[in-house]
This record gives sequence, structure tokens and C-alpha cells, in this order.
Amino acid sequence: MTTEPSAAAPAHPAGPPALQITDLRVVFDGFVAVDGVDLTVPVGDLRFLIGPNGAGKTTLVDAVTGLVKATGSARFGELELLGRDVHRIARLGVGRTFQTATVFEELTVLQNLDIAAGAGRSAWTMLRRRGGVPDDVAEALTTVGLVDQRDQLAGTLAHGQKQWLEIGMLLVQNARLLLLDEPVAGMSHEERDATGELLSLLAEHRTVVVIEHDMEFLRRFARTVTVLHGGRVLSEGTVAQVQADPRVQEVYLGHQAVEA
Ligand SMILES: Nc1ncnc2c1ncn2[C@@H]1O[C@H](COP(=O)(O)OP(=O)(O)OP(=O)(O)O)[C@@H](O)[C@H]1O
Ligand SMILES: [Mg+2]
Repeated sequence: MTTEPSAAAPAHPAGPPALQITDLRVVFDGFVAVDGVDLTVPVGDLRFLIGPNGAGKTTLVDAVTGLVKATGSARFGELELLGRDVHRIARLGVGRTFQTATVFEELTVLQNLDIAAGAGRSAWTMLRRRGGVPDDVAEALTTVGLVDQRDQLAGTLAHGQKQWLEIGMLLVQNARLLLLDEPVAGMSHEERDATGELLSLLAEHRTVVVIEHDMEFLRRFARTVTVLHGGRVLSEGTVAQVQADPRVQEVYLGHQAVEA
């Protein structure tokens, strides 16, 4: 059975940076969406990235994963990601999900995982494993809790299960850094709890960055938090530190006042 890397690897924020972003800038037709962001995420962190609508959260992830052009630097371990092609970045071990799940609805859960696994494999490996479910796919099914849905069409999965399948697809691609864009949006309470547990489990051996709006979810599961506002880092620290920051309160209170 394929196992996660040895437990000797540091599981908590103290290790070397998995992601080191320096002076990241993204400009769309003169509009500065990401305005000189510095962000360091240590190996094994479960980092929440929060901020009001339009803060630049998704654009930051787009820049790191090669979807939009950016200046500055985004290093994954020793490797510079900026300037590399989307597929190459994925193959290096940087996986991301989107605000709406992107699974193949007409294929089964297993087929979705198989395709994702195949993306990083040679034809020879594909041939050899035709007979059964490969270890890494079986393990991903278990990790994301979709063993019983293995042969179900992805299109018939519950909303939360689709997000878990997408995370499973990153696992079989052996993503070491997972960037998840609002994974619990639209989920039930039970699905949120299960997702939080899943992310905590993943962060034992991988590095997870979660964009999220749900404050209750953040309070329960975040190890560290970075707040973006207007394309810049407004605040960073533990949940308690960030919550106590008057600048954060101002941004979020202003928000609530508008919504009230
Ligand atoms: N392709 C684009 N062209 C022009 N402007 C864009 C583009 N993508 C994003 N923007 C703008 O950049 C800013 C940051 O957008 P982004 O989607 O990164 O915000 P966000 O923090 O993810 O917000 P949300 O919480 O609503 O998802 C917004 O003002 C948005 O309108
Ligand atoms: Mg967004």
C-alpha cells in the first residue's frame, strides 16, 4: 500500500516554506488586483486566506498556478513557479480547486480519479494497473470518504462530495501544496465539518491553503490566517491575533454594516 511520507517530516509550521511569495503583482488592463503581496506558508501549514470580495484571493491563486500573468516571485520549495505553464506547475505538485467543482459529471468517481492519476503517469504504468484499482486511487477514495460512491456517476454526487472528489483528484496527482478556493461554499453543516476534518488530515503531510469566507469554519480549522484587502496583505497570524487586529475588524465590520 502506498503510504504518506514518513511521520518524520515536520507536520506543523516550523519547517521550510512550501510556498514563498514575494512582491507578487497582477495587473488587469491597468487595474491592480494583487498589489505587492509577500506571503510565506511553511510546510504542513493549514493556512486560511480571507478578505472581502474582490480582495485578490482567487487572483493570487491563479497567479501561483500559472493561470494569470504576474510579476514578483512565487517559490514552491526551491522552484520558481512564475513563468511556468499551468500543467507543469500541476506536475510539480501544486494542485488547486476552483470556486465551482470541475469534475467529469458523466464519468464515475473512480474514472475521474483514474484520469487525474493518469495525467502524471507513463503509458506503461497505465497498462500495468489496468487490472484493479491502484493503491494510490484506493487510498484517495478512502481519504476523501467516497469508497461507497466509487462507481457512482460524478454528476449524481452531492455538492460536498464533488468537492471531495476534486480534492481526491489532487491527491492522486500527488499534490504537495493544495490551494482550495472556497471549498465549503454551499455545503451543509455536516459537509463543512467533514471537510474541515479532511483538510486537517491532509495538512499532516501536505501544505494546505484555503480561501474561505465562513468565519465559523475558519475559527475551527485554521492554523494560521492571512487577510487580504485591496490586493494587499492587511494582517496575518493565528485566528486570535487576526481577530483582535483593529484593521481586520474595520474591514469586516464595515462589511457587516453594509449587509445589515
Ligand atoms: N480577468 C480579470 N480581468 C479584470 N479584472 C479582474 C479579472 N479577474 C479578477 N479581476 C478583478 O480583480 C479583483 C480581485 O478579484 P478576485 O477574484 O481575485 O477577488 P477575490 O478576493 O477572489 O473575491 P471573491 O471573494 O469575490 O471571490 C476584483 O476587483 C476583480 O474584479
Ligand atoms: Mg474568489
